[in-house]
Amino acid sequence: MVLLKTMLNGKKILLGITGSIAAYKSVYLVRLLVKAGAEVKVIMTPSAKDFVSPLTLSTLSRNTVAIDLFDEQSWANHVMLGRWADVMVIAPLSCNTLAKMANGLCDNLLLATYLSSVCPVVVAPAMDEDMWHHPATKNNLARLEEFGNKIIPVEKGDLASGLHGEGRMSEPEQIIDFISINFFLTGPETGKLTGKKVLVTAGPTYEPIDPVRFIGNHSSGKMGIAIAKEFYERGASVTLIMGPSQLDFSANGISVQRVTTAAEMYNACMEYFGQADITVMSAAVADYSPAVRSDKKIKKTTDTLTLELAKTKDILKSLGEKKKSNQVLVGFALETNDEKKHALEKLAKKKADLIVLNSMQDAGAGFGHDTNKITIFDKSGREFSFGTKSKNEVAKDIVETIIRLYYV
Ligand code: CTP
Repeated sequence: MVLLKTMLNGKKILLGITGSIAAYKSVYLVRLLVKAGAEVKVIMTPSAKDFVSPLTLSTLSRNTVAIDLFDEQSWANHVMLGRWADVMVIAPLSCNTLAKMANGLCDNLLLATYLSSVCPVVVAPAMDEDMWHHPATKNNLARLEEFGNKIIPVEKGDLASGLHGEGRMSEPEQIIDFISINFFLTGPETGKLTGKKVLVTAGPTYEPIDPVRFIGNHSSGKMGIAIAKEFYERGASVTLIMGPSQLDFSANGISVQRVTTAAEMYNACMEYFGQADITVMSAAVADYSPAVRSDKKIKKTTDTLTLELAKTKDILKSLGEKKKSNQVLVGFALETNDEKKHALEKLAKKKADLIVLNSMQDAGAGFGHDTNKITIFDKSGREFSFGTKSKNEVAKDIVETIIRLYYV
């Protein structure tokens, strides 16, 4: 999923393609960039032609593809190409071109353009796992970072060699998100969350009664997903821990961990919380779970059935007790009566920094709706109220409130 393509409208992207099997993904990258409104010019190394056709790339980019430094009659103006671009992206970056870039070699048009470019340069390496781990590769990448170039990390997966491991070029969607976040974000809160680690919980939990039945609730997970996306779009590195929602959410760039029970959500949160700068607990965690889970399906042999329930661990409260002063912890409260009083009690009891109140009395708020109406309370008694809005807009309000209160 491309989350951020709208930011690329009108931007000038110079795409360098080197000789690597992953060059097939660059064809789709060009397509996505053009669809997002970017102007794209492609430069290929001579060996890249063996992997993808210049004709395909020039058709998709709607520009001629530059390959040679000169032909019999003309000289390719690499200086002007480098000055034309808002960003130069080299994807895939082969080991060979990486080594040449790190050492300032200049034996083809792509390298000449790289050396004369005045715009930011981003590279998406692609290679086999052993090459990726070789110290020469690490040194060369470190040199590029010293030059100020940005590196899009490789992914783990199937490799052209038939092996499985690290070295795959990042997916085109993720490359687009990376470029958008790093170079084209705008707005007053821009850049404040870059590099911050964020933990978000979402959805319900299911507490098993027997192998076929459970106690659950109607939470859809929409609010938490919207919050995770909003953080991601502002440059944060996001982990979403999600209960058994019917929504099949996955997005490149957001790490999604699925859990079922309150106990599993507790363990997942505990594991990640130490690294998180910001934690937003929007999940509707079960407060009680069957004290005993029957191994076999319970048969209807009696007229009444009493289930004994035991309290689950309060995750937000446990995190509040562990929280350090440089961490921001945000809880949710869904109330039907004495809303403000209960919300403030929860804020204090669970040692959160902020509590987001949804009132069941407000039309359009709560489970199952596409809209929500919230009030945010902070520890010093301040209150921030918002109108009924889509869950995406509400997520924006929550994230912007966090930035204004803690990061400006
Ligand atoms: N929460 C949690 N762990 C639980 C229960 C709730 O982390 N076992 C979190 C929710 O994710 C939410 C906040 O606590 O951020 C408020 O949840 P809520 O159920 O409304 O509060 P409770 O303390 O359970 O109070 P009550 O149900 O009595 O209103």
